[in-house]
Amino acid sequence: MPRAMVVFSHPCEESFNAALHREAVAALTRSGWEVDDCDLYAEGFQPVLSAEERRNYHDTSINAAPVQGYVDRVKAADAMVFVFPVWNFGYPAMLKGFFDRVFLPGVSFDLADGKLTASLDNIRKLAAITTYGSTKWRAFLAGDPPRKLITRAVWGATGFAKVKYLALNDMNNVTEAQRKAFLAKVSAEMERF
Ligand SMILES: Cc1cc2nc3c(=O)[nH]c(=O)nc-3n(C[C@H](O)[C@H](O)[C@H](O)COP(=O)(O)O)c2cc1C
Repeated sequence: MPRAMVVFSHPCEESFNAALHREAVAALTRSGWEVDDCDLYAEGFQPVLSAEERRNYHDTSINAAPVQGYVDRVKAADAMVFVFPVWNFGYPAMLKGFFDRVFLPGVSFDLADGKLTASLDNIRKLAAITTYGSTKWRAFLAGDPPRKLITRAVWGATGFAKVKYLALNDMNNVTEAQRKAFLAKVSAEMERF
């Protein structure tokens, strides 16, 4: 059974993002994925990279030790799905900290003689499911960092995974019908993931 790690980052269970998370997990499960549901807030993930972790960052014999369980889950996955709201045109600090602490040298990339190579070649499929307060146009004018981070930087660590970026913009003005339609789109996209 292929395995999908769903990394969810929102503090409130009543949020729209929580509904997206539930929809994604349900749709993936229905279509035969074994889901590793990683709810960073619920798991009490500690997102701050410590001084010791920074000092050991390049030492691949010890750098993963403080987050070994998370590293093992990433390495056991065939796909990764990130569900998060856009905050300050980036990830919530919780998710940013996941990348800082878990996507380490020797885990997501290798660094040899100053040359960087992708090492998440177990990840064949990658998706982000996200929401913005801003319109598509405003996000574009701001450079849309979260879109680029997922479709370029995280994707680059995977070695050519198939990537999907599913976004709902203008959250302060969307109607109930538009939210429902986006939930249905997420469900359909995850079912044929
Ligand atoms: C701390 C914070 C920062 C935010 N910054 C941005 C931003 O830079 N760009 C944007 O488009 N929306 C921003 N928003 C709006 C969120 O994207 C929006 O509230 C969220 O997508 C709604 O989803 P939710 O109801 O599941 O929380 C911000 C919201 C919060 C709480």
